Amino acid sequence: MKAIVLGAGKGTRLQSEQYNMPKVLRKANGKPLLQYVLEALNFLKEEDMTIVVGYKKEMVYDAIKGNYQFATQDKQLGTGHAVLVTEDVFKGYKGPILVAYGDMPLYKRSTYEKMFEIHDSEKATCTVLTAVIDDPPAYGRIIRNTDNQMIGVIEAKDCTKEQLAIKELNVGVYVFDSEFLFENLKSLKNDNIQQEYYLTDIPKMVMEQDKKLVTHTIYHTNEVYGVNTVEELEFCERVLKNQP
Ligand code: UD1
Ligand code: MG
Repeated sequence: MKAIVLGAGKGTRLQSEQYNMPKVLRKANGKPLLQYVLEALNFLKEEDMTIVVGYKKEMVYDAIKGNYQFATQDKQLGTGHAVLVTEDVFKGYKGPILVAYGDMPLYKRSTYEKMFEIHDSEKATCTVLTAVIDDPPAYGRIIRNTDNQMIGVIEAKDCTKEQLAIKELNVGVYVFDSEFLFENLKSLKNDNIQQEYYLTDIPKMVMEQDKKLVTHTIYHTNEVYGVNTVEELEFCERVLKNQP
């Protein structure tokens, strides 16, 4: 079991340039966002975790101590591209890779562990964590067919009005079969509103290639709230302060 944590982004919506640091180093309750993610994943060996850095990467090297691997994404071309830059790190590795985002500090270790468990027991090619939320933030929407099978993710910015009404969300945690992942990341296209290579286009490819796409859905939890805006950072801080 190995993991990738994405942290190359600048955090434009958080206006963190005025703080001059990558978004994942912004602190909530005294600790960098990225640190929470790494601690929740600490059932893995540090050397089995790869952190993708980019914007002001030296600051991340200074802030994060341990035997983690690092991969550099020079230009922030999207979450799919960010995962692709880790390809060399995983040369020769066949097995599950969990991808998490460094801007989501509230996930518990048990949620990440459960994702590996389900991926393994289902013999899935890709397992996607989803959450049902009544008043959804600007997250990717989970698209299902009439058989209720997941067929893809559409980013909030690319959604039609009808799709925006979907309450099942992509909440930024996935487990992928390593070989399928790196093979297919190369065929991602950036023909979307943000002109980015979206990791969220991979699940659709799994389905199209008749491989097993599994979802694990969680309900009524704060864990899925990440940090894109100042309000969201304040929210996470409040949640973290109330936790023992
Ligand atoms: C992403 C998901 C969205 C999901 C949401 C949950 C995609 C395309 N969208 O959107 O479906 O609902 O997370 O929080 O994945 N990053 C890089 N390099 C890049 C771009 C991003 O390392 O080129 C890192 C950022 O530093 C951040 C993480 O990836 O830690 C997520 O990026 P962000 O821009 O916050 O994605 P969202 O818009 O939140
Ligand atoms: Mg985000």
